[in-house]
Amino acid sequence: MTRTPDRGLPTDRLLYGGDYNPEQWPEEVWKEDVVLMQRAGVNAATVGVFSWALLEPEEGVYDFGWLDRVLDTLHAGGIGVVLATPTASPPPWFTRAHPDALPVGPDGVRLTHGSRDTYAVSAPAYRAASRAIAERLAERYGDHPALLAWHVHNEYGTIDHGEHAAAAFRRWLQRRHGSLDELNRSWYTAFWSQRYTSWEDVLPPRRTQYLVNPGQAMDFRRFCSDEMLDAFREQRDAIRAAGSSAPVTTNFMLPTWNHLEQWSWSDELDVVSLDHYLDTVGPDGETHAAYGADLARSFSHGGPWLLMEQSTTSSTVAGRRAHKDVERVVRNSLSYLARGSQGALFFQWRAPAAGSEAWHGGIVPHTGEDSRSFRAFADLGRVVAALGEVAAPPADGRLVEADVAVLWHAEGWWATEAPQLPSDELDYSAAVRATHRALWHEGYAVDFAAPDADLSRYRVVCVPSLFAVGDAALASLRAFVERGGHLLVQPFTGYADEDLHVVPGGYPGRLRDLLGVRVQELHPLDAAERVQLSGGPGGELTGRVWSELLEPEGAEVVARYAGGELDGSPAITRAAAGAGAAHYASTFLDGGSLRRWLRGVCEEAGARRTVEGCPPPVEAVLRRGAHADHLFVLNHSGDAVRVSGPGTDVLSGEDAGEGLPVAARGWRVLRTGGRRGWRVEAAG
Ligand code: GLA
Repeated sequence: MTRTPDRGLPTDRLLYGGDYNPEQWPEEVWKEDVVLMQRAGVNAATVGVFSWALLEPEEGVYDFGWLDRVLDTLHAGGIGVVLATPTASPPPWFTRAHPDALPVGPDGVRLTHGSRDTYAVSAPAYRAASRAIAERLAERYGDHPALLAWHVHNEYGTIDHGEHAAAAFRRWLQRRHGSLDELNRSWYTAFWSQRYTSWEDVLPPRRTQYLVNPGQAMDFRRFCSDEMLDAFREQRDAIRAAGSSAPVTTNFMLPTWNHLEQWSWSDELDVVSLDHYLDTVGPDGETHAAYGADLARSFSHGGPWLLMEQSTTSSTVAGRRAHKDVERVVRNSLSYLARGSQGALFFQWRAPAAGSEAWHGGIVPHTGEDSRSFRAFADLGRVVAALGEVAAPPADGRLVEADVAVLWHAEGWWATEAPQLPSDELDYSAAVRATHRALWHEGYAVDFAAPDADLSRYRVVCVPSLFAVGDAALASLRAFVERGGHLLVQPFTGYADEDLHVVPGGYPGRLRDLLGVRVQELHPLDAAERVQLSGGPGGELTGRVWSELLEPEGAEVVARYAGGELDGSPAITRAAAGAGAAHYASTFLDGGSLRRWLRGVCEEAGARRTVEGCPPPVEAVLRRGAHADHLFVLNHSGDAVRVSGPGTDVLSGEDAGEGLPVAARGWRVLRTGGRRGWRVEAAG
């Protein structure tokens, strides 16, 4: 078995399959499921995610018989199991026995069962019950031959504001701040007569008369992430204590489920896993798949990770009601694999006959296996099997070589969700996504990095927005530039320290010296308003959301505002610092403008594209491997292209030296020993 030290599943093949809920079906269907799974090339089923009510029908009374038969049936058919602990969905008896373990909203309303995820993560009864069921499962199945990995819980993210949360929050605050004086300083409680004189008075940010204290709100989000991580650790440790050595994961959810600070979580997981649903049915969905995959690989420090869920051809989740054609399902799956996933798993194997997600598709749709989509999934299963060799990671564990990184931090997102910021249009996620999208269109491989990470491997680091910058982050950004890196900073970055206290003397406070600028005034724009810039790379540029009255303090002016109230004043700057440079845009540049600015800096910094000149929306991604590297060419366009260069087609064995066609909406994967030197161009 090949395994990157401490990262990923110990597997030398790619996983294919998805969530499997046999408890929804009579047993005779299970046998048919296995036959169909074999026909579709499925080798992994995620079992037990929502099975608590069946596994423990009464408190402390367990019924594992049905799960024994499921695992044995799957194993007999050669299907591995990702076994979940069912703690995302406590059964109704749990509510009856422990009403205090239900979550309470900020408005004081206690939820009840009848859906899922109705738990108060800090409630002792919930934690004890979770540990107990995890331990029982591990005792029983810890060495089951079908077991591939443990899937603890499902998408942690239920937030509780009740009494148990309040007590745990106070304990967390005592550890973080040490004393009430320090908490009062950090939370700036001199404002609005909020000074605390007793820990008992400190509460989660519940509904109050007007605005909640921002320090309290931020600390509560930090606490919730840490508290859920503790709950995860307890289950993981219970599994380990029961003697199971199978890798343990829990599935992160992106892009909207922003309750976790993923960097601190990912080091606690044996394998980072991700549930990812496209946020648009439009062409931009392809960039979104890349975004999720690049994040997951980065959370895994560049190593392997697992795509635990994606939708099949249809999804009914609000905002994601999308029909995906099967060609897109294939290309998206390959995009995740190219960027380091150890498999392509779906939600879900069989579309349910009823229930709240009855219209969420499956590999086996309601129409059954005699369907175009099932046949397409079976074809994809054969492709995933043929690509098995890519699973073995290179010795250094880094699957994708990127010269460009984008800073990501949950706290940056949380900070822009506060009310009463200078603009309601500030959107952290949109800024990060726009930056990644622009780099995708420019053909650069991208890593994400934590603010305090060692950035020395990169030539360019982008900070789309990071309101609060701590000492470690500041030191890391400074060292990066001094050693020759190019830093690109966009607005609403560096204005505050980690307590969200604005740095006095001029924005962007903590980064003022490094960027060589001083901002005196903020000029937020209305939603529809645009500002024009002149003198930038490639001529006129357009900005949105934000503008600033800025004076250089050592930086050179690259572009100026043209027209409007800031007419003629500096808009984009470049400051030489050490062996590198720090670039600043004081507005959020529109798509095309952002691309031009990034392109200019990336070229100045000598950042390398995977395939120079690859025409978007064709993407080329190189996945490095133990035995060979693989170039994935995904043609999201409606026109055929040609790929040429070192390598042979993995499926057909054809040599790509003289060029091979890539059909419209099609793809190719080349097995290659080279790292550069390919061309992708119009087929004509
Ligand atoms: C999530 C959950 C699944 C299911 C899907 C539907 O990611 O993990 O249980 O609800 O969404 O899209």
